[in-house]
Amino acid sequence: MSLFQRLMVVISAAALLLGVVLTFTYDIIKIEWISFMEIQPSYKPMEKPLPVAVRSIPIEGAAYIPGQGAPVNPVPADEVSIERGRVLYQINCAQCHGATGEGNGIIGGALVNPPANLTSDVVQTKADGALFLTISNGILGANGQIRMPALNENLTVRDRWDVVNYIRTLKAAP
Ligand code: HEC
Repeated sequence: MSLFQRLMVVISAAALLLGVVLTFTYDIIKIEWISFMEIQPSYKPMEKPLPVAVRSIPIEGAAYIPGQGAPVNPVPADEVSIERGRVLYQINCAQCHGATGEGNGIIGGALVNPPANLTSDVVQTKADGALFLTISNGILGANGQIRMPALNENLTVRDRWDVVNYIRTLKAAP
């Protein structure tokens, strides 16, 4: 073998090796090296509500029809509903709005923008449906900042109406 031929062999071997390596780097042949559960494309709680899957049907019926105004409360404010609302309120709202609804919860006190006083006339004179929409969608500030988080993922439609019925019992005594 001449020197030139030997050189050609070495170069072709190197080119072949490079080609093989490149097929892996460009995921032509994909190898799952190590996988940890925490390294994956996913959303953290409250981060970005996922859109409902195409062609899915709400099993509770639509909560409300967008653009049709506030929905009418379909849940009678009986003892069961108010008791359910009380329990759900303590879990989902009390940390901000306070155990008695006066807007002085543990987290609420630390917020720059304080939570509403739910016993006040401002809130109590609102329609049930308006409160329902607030719970469902939260409150966005003018700058797009979340002032109150949307709780539609935490509470079912029935749960939200129960909370609304409970809020009515917080009305400050005249
Ligand atoms: C993370 C804290 C937080 C949680 C949790 C929270 N809220 Fe609020 N809420 C706020 C803040 C802050 C405001 C005042 C927003 C504003 O108007 O700037 C508010 C306002 C409201 C209002 C007043 C709306 C209006 O139009 O006057 C209602 C009603 C309300 N919240 C109900 C609830 C209920 C019911 C829950 C539980 C299901 C809840 N909130 C959970 C922080 C919270």
